[in-house]
Amino acid sequence: MTWWDNAVGYEVYIRSFADSDGDGIGDLDGLTARLDHLAWLGADLLWVTPFYPSPLKDFGYDVADYLDVHPNYGDLEAFDRCLARCHELGIRMLIDLVPNHTSDQHPWFLDAIAGRHSAHRDYYIFRPPRSDGGPPNNWVSHFGGPAWTLDPNSGEYYCHLFLPEQPDLNWANPAVQAEFESIIASWLGRGVDGFRIDVAHGLCKDPALADNPQIAEITPDMSPREVFAAFEHVYDLERPETGDIYRQWRRIADHHDALLLGEVNVGDVSVSRQYLGEDGLHRALYFGLNDRPWDAEAFASDLRRAAEIAPDGGFSWAISNHDEPRPVTRFGGGGVGLDRSLAIWVAFAGLPGTPFLYQGEELGLEDCVIERDDVHDPVGLASYEEGRDPCRTPMPWEPGEQLGFTTASRAWLASPTRDATETVAAQRDQPGSPLHRFRDLLTARREMSPLRRGPLEWITDEPGVVAFRRGEVVHLSNLGDHPVAIDLPPGEWGIRYDSGSGLKSEGKKTEIPAALAPRSGMILRRSGST
Ligand code: GLC
Repeated sequence: MTWWDNAVGYEVYIRSFADSDGDGIGDLDGLTARLDHLAWLGADLLWVTPFYPSPLKDFGYDVADYLDVHPNYGDLEAFDRCLARCHELGIRMLIDLVPNHTSDQHPWFLDAIAGRHSAHRDYYIFRPPRSDGGPPNNWVSHFGGPAWTLDPNSGEYYCHLFLPEQPDLNWANPAVQAEFESIIASWLGRGVDGFRIDVAHGLCKDPALADNPQIAEITPDMSPREVFAAFEHVYDLERPETGDIYRQWRRIADHHDALLLGEVNVGDVSVSRQYLGEDGLHRALYFGLNDRPWDAEAFASDLRRAAEIAPDGGFSWAISNHDEPRPVTRFGGGGVGLDRSLAIWVAFAGLPGTPFLYQGEELGLEDCVIERDDVHDPVGLASYEEGRDPCRTPMPWEPGEQLGFTTASRAWLASPTRDATETVAAQRDQPGSPLHRFRDLLTARREMSPLRRGPLEWITDEPGVVAFRRGEVVHLSNLGDHPVAIDLPPGEWGIRYDSGSGLKSEGKKTEIPAALAPRSGMILRRSGST
């Protein structure tokens, strides 16, 4: 049993969470002042996105100094205040470690491009052009174009799986490994409780830098994401050597009782499973239900399969983050999208693992519409339709100017389609709001954690349904659009939570078989269980 087994995660996109100094940009003191919201909601594991010095080409995922704070977000003292307040409230904090690449303004890279024999040259992946002058291989960047940019100074190309301003580190170099071990030790010494590891399936590359097999034709109308998916990423990602790096990190983390949570963003859960285990990562974020259209039957069976693949709780269940359209939007919008999200969350709340909310998910927020000339995200600049700004707009706190996010007349990213009913304050005052339905769910999860013992037993394989028993607790989720009747295990079961209406104080007895409304979930407790 570890401290994160029963935790509920909450991702804060720092730039858009809360602004304390009126510059229109979220910051650490703003976050500190709003941590009460997490405590009230019942989230006790914060992941805060990168706050490091950075030219912000990818809004902080281009790090220029791993050990400091960008002035937009405060300074190290503000960080310490935030961490101390978290701990006072019983919230643990994960920071975002970005090891696959640095910023092109990181001193290591500035030195690396100073000359072929510079001290940090081998911190990065430089290669001479092919005989025709082109890039060394066929790898492409996630954000469009080749994964190689020519360094005019030396005539060699350097590798970048994201922007040219995000050069990839050379993880075959022991000096790079030592740098990160020291960065990790430094933050653990400062008191953080662990790391969310960016692009955790990246880092090591094939030593021969072989071409990736191309599996689909590439046409000019394809988005960067589609072009990326036209290759099998066997040589640039998912390399077995990366496991050796995590083996080292695990020793350091375990020494501090710290959590390693990987962004293992791969298509197949059995592949992400390989990153977990005794000498790997403790948790991998689950991406199984992202980036695909709603399909109740496929979603239910994929969730069941993932839970079976990591029965001891290796996945951090999530349907939302700062890179994807918001789930309510993806799942059909409005009440339908919200009900579907909550029905999935009823399963997340009971499956072994550590579920993660993304800021605003608890408000049932939909994506904002971003006008073309207000696009900030580099992905959005490359392909407007694919941009990530719509899910990154400022957190709506209370009715009024800028919905309580900032005192500036304009936030760094406008959210023209938000209104007062979507704010935390309005929803706190409104029983039955998405906020209360999520909070009640987390309350039920927490209260029943001592009863949720024993192995998971599936109750039905009804299509579109995820239904299981763990000890004295049953979780039922009907993702489909029709009511279903489910035969409960023997005994008397009382409803403790219903996603349509929230927490039930009397624990009303269910009819057997339990009738599950479309797009809904329930948590039941065995009567008399303590
Ligand atoms: C991860 C982050 C994303 C970032 C990318 C490159 O996928 O979640 O926001 O752009 O890594 O660092």
